[in-house]
Amino acid sequence: MRRHYRISEQCSQASSDKSRAAPSEAEARQRDRYGSSRAAPSEAEAQQRDRPVNYAAQSGGRMRAIYIERSGGPDVLKVRETETPKPKAGEVAIAVKAAGINFADILARQGLYPPTPPFPCVVGYEVAGTVTAVGAGVDRAWIGKAVLAMPHFGGYAEVACVDTAHVWEKPARLSFEQAAAIPENYVTAWALLVGMGGLKRGETVLIHNAGGGVGLAALDVALHCGATVIGTASARKHDFLRSRGCHHCVDYTDAGWPDAVRKLGGGRGVDLAIDPLGGASWKQSYALLRKGGRLGMFGISAASSGGKLGLLKMVLSMPFFHPLKLMPGNRGVFGVQMHEMYGETDKFRGWMDEVLRGVDEGWVRPHIDRVSRFDEAGAAHAHIEGRGNIGKVLLVP
Ligand SMILES: NC(=O)c1ccc[n+]([C@@H]2O[C@H](COP(=O)([O-])OP(=O)(O)OC[C@H]3O[C@@H](n4cnc5c(N)ncnc54)[C@H](OP(=O)(O)O)[C@@H]3O)[C@@H](O)[C@H]2O)c1
Repeated sequence: MRRHYRISEQCSQASSDKSRAAPSEAEARQRDRYGSSRAAPSEAEAQQRDRPVNYAAQSGGRMRAIYIERSGGPDVLKVRETETPKPKAGEVAIAVKAAGINFADILARQGLYPPTPPFPCVVGYEVAGTVTAVGAGVDRAWIGKAVLAMPHFGGYAEVACVDTAHVWEKPARLSFEQAAAIPENYVTAWALLVGMGGLKRGETVLIHNAGGGVGLAALDVALHCGATVIGTASARKHDFLRSRGCHHCVDYTDAGWPDAVRKLGGGRGVDLAIDPLGGASWKQSYALLRKGGRLGMFGISAASSGGKLGLLKMVLSMPFFHPLKLMPGNRGVFGVQMHEMYGETDKFRGWMDEVLRGVDEGWVRPHIDRVSRFDEAGAAHAHIEGRGNIGKVLLVP
């Protein structure tokens, strides 16, 4: 049973106590499974393309997965056949119907994301599909259930094995594709705005990269909280953002964007800013906080366009927050990295419960930009890297 909470003055809610027993070291197991240099036998890509999917029901057989062969451009993504993983203790095996692409996957492919397993590896943090097998200690009633799940890597595959602590039953009203578009984006948005950002009705929030996956999810959460939203994005995304309820749109490719945001905040700035760009942008966002304001930092997208040198430049342009300045400034700063929250099962599941409650209530509105086949993964990555997407890009076997 999902616990339901009511929205109050403050949008934050306590976490649920619904956690299932989380078997230990799930992350390490996932990493072992996909992070090794076990190279799968390759086949001609043309054959792969025409192959009917999927192998999930044939536990112990072979499956296709998208490997990042080495760091590089979108062409290093290759579909390979490999052994179908079997669920370990505490896990379920999921026949993947749709897998989400996240910006972290782009950075992983570029060699700029330290948690990535050694190449060749399979990335992917979110899937939706049907449970086909369970590991030791897991109720067999899971088998056949439609679910959404958050693997720690390994999502770009026909079968993903995931600890049940990170698996949820798919709400019936969602398609598998809609369900795969939800977990990473919405739980991150909820953590940033509510779980840690403490967003309240009547406050003003600055959402950077508002047209992206997390950005649109954050817009939904902020509107649900009753906040005024200033969203930054490439100009061509503004009409769409307005149609989704974003109150003010700002083009952050224009150097004058901080002044525009300050004016929209009535000259005082904003109560909360969430910033996935990193480097100098964190300085600018911090400077836009009014007293009592908070800055949530959660990504380094700005490093993506400049390779390793770009990453270095970004690191060098990061702000330092001195306590003696934070105190009189009356401002708060925090960071979010969802996968480092996996061990905090109660809190993490509590946040997801709020998101799934939002599905029931209708304010969670996953927006799918495009759905690509596994063999089109490179083009899908290039589309995101080229800033082409509005909302979620998905892969289907
Ligand atoms: N910490 C966490 O737990 C966590 C979880 C999920 C995501 N994230 C972070 O949140 C950010 C958004 O992730 P997402 O998966 O939702 O991706 P996304 O926003 O759907 O995809 C990329 C979008 O980012 C914008 N962008 C900004 N700088 C860019 C650059 N240098 N190169 C290419 N695009 C750039 C573009 O939008 P415009 O055209 O509007 O610029 C582009 O369309 C990423 O930094 C990601 O790492 C963090």
